[in-house]
Amino acid sequence: MPATTGMKGGGYYDRHSGAQLTAVQVLQDWIDVAVANLPLPAPAQPVTVLDLGSSEGRNATRLMAAVVAGLRRRTDQAVRTIYSDLASNDFNQLFANLEEARRAGLLAAGVYPGAVGGSFYGPLLPPGTVHLATCFNAVHWLDRLPAVPLTDSVAYRRPLPTRTGLAVSPPEATAAFTRQAEQDLVRFLTCRARELVPGAKLLLAGPGDTDQARLCDGILDVHNDACLDLVTAGRLERERYERLTMPCYYRTVAEMLAPLEREDSPVRGAFAVDRAEALEVPTPYLVEFLRGGDVAAYAGAYTGFLRAVSEPVVRAALDRPEGEGGIVESLYERIRARLLAEPERYSWRYNLVAALLTRR
Ligand SMILES: C[S@@+](CC[C@H](N)C(=O)[O-])C[C@H]1O[C@@H](n2cnc3c(N)ncnc32)[C@H](O)[C@@H]1O
Repeated sequence: MPATTGMKGGGYYDRHSGAQLTAVQVLQDWIDVAVANLPLPAPAQPVTVLDLGSSEGRNATRLMAAVVAGLRRRTDQAVRTIYSDLASNDFNQLFANLEEARRAGLLAAGVYPGAVGGSFYGPLLPPGTVHLATCFNAVHWLDRLPAVPLTDSVAYRRPLPTRTGLAVSPPEATAAFTRQAEQDLVRFLTCRARELVPGAKLLLAGPGDTDQARLCDGILDVHNDACLDLVTAGRLERERYERLTMPCYYRTVAEMLAPLEREDSPVRGAFAVDRAEALEVPTPYLVEFLRGGDVAAYAGAYTGFLRAVSEPVVRAALDRPEGEGGIVESLYERIRARLLAEPERYSWRYNLVAALLTRR
């Protein structure tokens, strides 16, 4: 059982993921380079592009449009665009997005979209059939939550050797989260190594940490503080709060590349590293606020962003099958109230860790 069911559906993720779309746009030149250099199959065969963790598809269809535009500069052969996500993802919304694009004439000729429901920690397509795989803002979701409880935070917080005074998870949590993240990445890369043809490209990009900054700071502080407000107000039992942990791990560039280099790794040498970097994404609602935008718009957009990615996990941990409803609603209301009251306190840095790999 994966540790999440996906994003908040019904179009909510689509409406509140402008920041993730900006991350795709920031890497436009990486996409162009990947597409310009991927190996084309024989002319009668389709080029296959697999997106991993496509969610409801608003951003994924834009990413695919950028890929197809690049391919059309090279070839007019057929293109299979495959969107994938967990089986519990809102695929109805994804298909609605595709249909809307088709009706609006935005699907290029010779492009055949399809979808696969399944975890990217397992195989998704037949071996040796994929020419480009992309994965944006998804591989930080762990396959399962480590069994070490985090009793005073809704998220794992890595120690940062360069900074003091930060709240840090206990050493046993660090060991367990690091191990889970390593194992998951090896499984992810093993599956992609099987699916990709020799020379195929894998573009992996998502929120990550650097030696100077942690992704959790600010954004997961407001999440945590709002939960504690509800505990203090007697609306949420402490044990229930302690059970809520986001199953995420924000890798550094070094951690992203480690399985390709480690002696005992099953994917050692399977990919060449074309490029790997940490970049900062200008998060639209933060940029707007810093430009003098109004605090209500900032708090609303920030809460929507956080809610879109966290609500299914929050609901699974906090909702009571019987008793009082509305706890989830109250939590996001508290988050918004905290952001309104102290907007600067919770500002955060969207570091994107990106790697462009070539299958050997
Ligand atoms: C934040 S969304 C990213 C959506 C899109 N790629 C973007 O950048 O806007 C993360 C997606 O990863 C998916 N995901 C998480 N774990 C997954 C897994 N094990 N296998 C496949 N998809 C997964 C979630 O369901 C979610 O739809």
